[in-house]
Parts: sequence; structure tokens; C-alpha cells
Amino acid sequence: MRKKIIAGNWKMNKTFEEANGLINEVAKGIANKEFFNKEVVLCPPFLYTEMAADFADDYNFSVGVQDISQYPMGAYTGEIAAEMARSVGVQYSIIGHSERRSYFNETDDILSRKVDMALENELTPIFCCGEHLDVRKADKQFKVVGEQLTEGLFYLDKKDITRVVVAYEPVWAIGTGETASPLQAQEMHEFIRNQLAGKYGEDVAAEIPILYGGSVKPSNAHDLFIQPDIDGGLIGGGSLKSQDFLQIIEAMKDE
Ligand code: 13P
Repeated sequence: MRKKIIAGNWKMNKTFEEANGLINEVAKGIANKEFFNKEVVLCPPFLYTEMAADFADDYNFSVGVQDISQYPMGAYTGEIAAEMARSVGVQYSIIGHSERRSYFNETDDILSRKVDMALENELTPIFCCGEHLDVRKADKQFKVVGEQLTEGLFYLDKKDITRVVVAYEPVWAIGTGETASPLQAQEMHEFIRNQLAGKYGEDVAAEIPILYGGSVKPSNAHDLFIQPDIDGGLIGGGSLKSQDFLQIIEAMKDE
């Protein structure tokens, strides 16, 4: 049975004190929960990953980073290597977030190298895909997401693809308050799973968690998470307040 994952992507938010408070509140909020098949992942900015990992040792959540370098450790000023993230206890790395693709010109080629670096260093990539509004308006979303998967992920062999989590984040729904409807999201998640099945087989596709991201909040989380191919969420704004994030965690049924 595939894992359910609720991951909080804090993006570039929170001072040290605020980060400490938020990690503390989330950790304590889930401390007494028995998770069977559900994992909570916090992805704070790099600066706070070690602090989050220290908490994670004592509480039932994991830590992810929002990005990693495509290079191994070396002379790359300002970068963070997967090996370094792993060495402080990080388990996940978001890769190919639309903000990285748009603002930092991350191409499919760069992203596939980041996926490789993550896997070589025992980090689970949370590989993001999703279309812009003009693409959706032109009804080309399946073509575009299909290409993102083919270019960024489908070069992996069967063994490695099972170590990946996919996140579908329609760009028009990120930070806009506009969410994909549960049916729009389910339709795309089913498409992604079918693409995975076509390439790697039904058994493999059935095991890969596919998360939804884009204006998930306590009021809409349940309706999204009950869709058969939605295995959790990648939460931006809704992960910045502990009460909201805890409610979103609660909305994902753990079976
Ligand atoms: P919001 O939840 O703020 O829309 O952001 C989604 C996202 O980009 C998570 O990675």
C-alpha cells in the first residue's frame, strides 16, 4: 500500500525564532498521533533544516529540503549538496518546483541531474510537475505534464522510480487561493499514474505516491484527499500556521 504524505513547503519564510516556534507546535501537535501509513514532512529553508532534524529525532515527522544542487560537494558558491542535506538527517528533497523552474531557469536537464544527486545520496525526490494557466486554457495540460515527466523522470529505471514521490502542482493554483477542483486534480493524478503504468507497469505505478499542491487549506483538504489517486499534499501557505497545517494533516485519512 502506497504511503500518504503531507509535506509542508515553507518556501522563503520565517525567521529563526518563528521557525523554531512553528516546528515545535507542529511536532507537539502530532506527537500523540499514531500514524500507520501517513508521513508528515517539513521542508523549511535550508538554514533551519538541522534544527528541524533535531526535533524530528524525537517526534514523528521527517525533514525535507526545498531544492538541492545538481552538483556534488565542491566549489559551487552558495549551493547545498544532497550529501550535505543527508548528513544533517534530511530525507526528502523537493525538486523542480515551478518557482525554481520559472525564477531560476531550471530546465528538465538540470532537474534530472538533481534527481540523480538525491537518489545517490538516499534522499527521496518530491518531483514537481504542473502546467501554467495559458496551457490549461489551451487544454494542453496533459501534454505538458506528460513531457515534464518524460524529460525529468522517465529516464530512471524501475528500481529508482519506486524511490520517487511525484507532486502535481498546477501553477495557476499556487498561492492564488484558486484550487484545482477535486475532479480536475483527480483527473491529472490518474493521468500521471497511467503514464507511470505505461512506462513501468501497473504494480510500480500503484506504489508511487502522487501529491497535490496548490492552495490546499483546511477547508478543501478533505475533498482533495479522498480522491483515489491523490496520496497527500504539498502545502505552501497552509503549512505556515501550525493550526492550519495540523488540520490539513488530520484531513488525510491514515489507513
Ligand atoms: P500554496 O499552498 O501556497 O498554494 O503553495 C503550493 C506550493 O507551491 C507547495 O509547494
